[in-house]
Amino acid sequence: MQAKEAAEVEIIRLLKAGKDSYISGQALSAALGVSRTAVWKHIEKAREMGFSIEALPSKGYRLNTSADAPFNGIEVSSGLETGFIGRNICFYPSLDSTNMKAFELGRQGAPEGTAVIADSQTGGKGRLGRRWESPAGANLYTSIILRPGIPPRHAHNLTFLSAVAVAETVERFSPVRPTVKWPNDILLDGKKVAGILMEMDSEPDRVHFVVAGIGVNINIKVTAFPDRLRPMATSLYEKSGKETNRAVFTCVLYSSLEKWYKVYREKGFLPLMEAWKGFFASVGKTVTVRSFDSVIEGVCLGVDDDDGALLVKTRAGAIERVVSGDVEIKRDGL
Ligand code: BTN
Repeated sequence: MQAKEAAEVEIIRLLKAGKDSYISGQALSAALGVSRTAVWKHIEKAREMGFSIEALPSKGYRLNTSADAPFNGIEVSSGLETGFIGRNICFYPSLDSTNMKAFELGRQGAPEGTAVIADSQTGGKGRLGRRWESPAGANLYTSIILRPGIPPRHAHNLTFLSAVAVAETVERFSPVRPTVKWPNDILLDGKKVAGILMEMDSEPDRVHFVVAGIGVNINIKVTAFPDRLRPMATSLYEKSGKETNRAVFTCVLYSSLEKWYKVYREKGFLPLMEAWKGFFASVGKTVTVRSFDSVIEGVCLGVDDDDGALLVKTRAGAIERVVSGDVEIKRDGL
């Protein structure tokens, strides 16, 4: 939420808390510390932003919750329960890439927890230089700035942290339990529902900030994906048969990210790894791992608890430690 919309956020928060009852203009003006005329102007602005607010001269204002809520920074901010993640939200109807915008803001000194959200992306970035399909009106594209103050060699820990938070959130909204594909693809019934792109700005011994870029296929229908993606992509809508409120999903995701970030800061990497392994279902399966200079095929033995490296036993019996690459899960056993 940009600071200039703080009053609208507070009004929507109060109207939501009031459920279906009316809140008087006087009560809103007292709560916000502004005149009733100013309240009325903020109500008008909120209406322009897509909120359906009813007004009765004798009673005051009421949020019409049966109308579709808009997906914007005010709607997300008014539902947030976090201390710092998403407390500074920069929402855009369209961006090239939320990661690129977050990177720019990070360089300008944006505070930890700053979250960029776009309704659509024209140049959504995936891992390994791929493109991330980002049509409007359907999904979540968000990038969060973290400033963990760790050396670059530990930045990979945040990859696992983000995967746990996304998997945990998807689980809340899906009838099917998600799994993670190493290191941080989130799958439902073997098809990708969410992807994470971590990027960092650092010097040799210190990370300045990390951008956790998260894309979740929420309300998109599989027929809207390009042909080449249809066999491997899915969405919450495809699994549940109903629309998920994107703002509610975003608030749950930010709470989960903040919870696991605190765990990481207080207790280190191990609890994250344990939680991540709870979603990992590739042990014992034959995998092919492609990295920029090699292809490894073998049976997945698990991951290294210290750094999350993937452990693969090849046909020759060697145990390979993979720290980056793209995994294809083939079948059970060798
Ligand atoms: C992957 O390849 O699995 C990673 C996909 C990450 C996509 C998200 S959408 C929000 C953020 N902005 C981007 O440009 N990419 C990430």
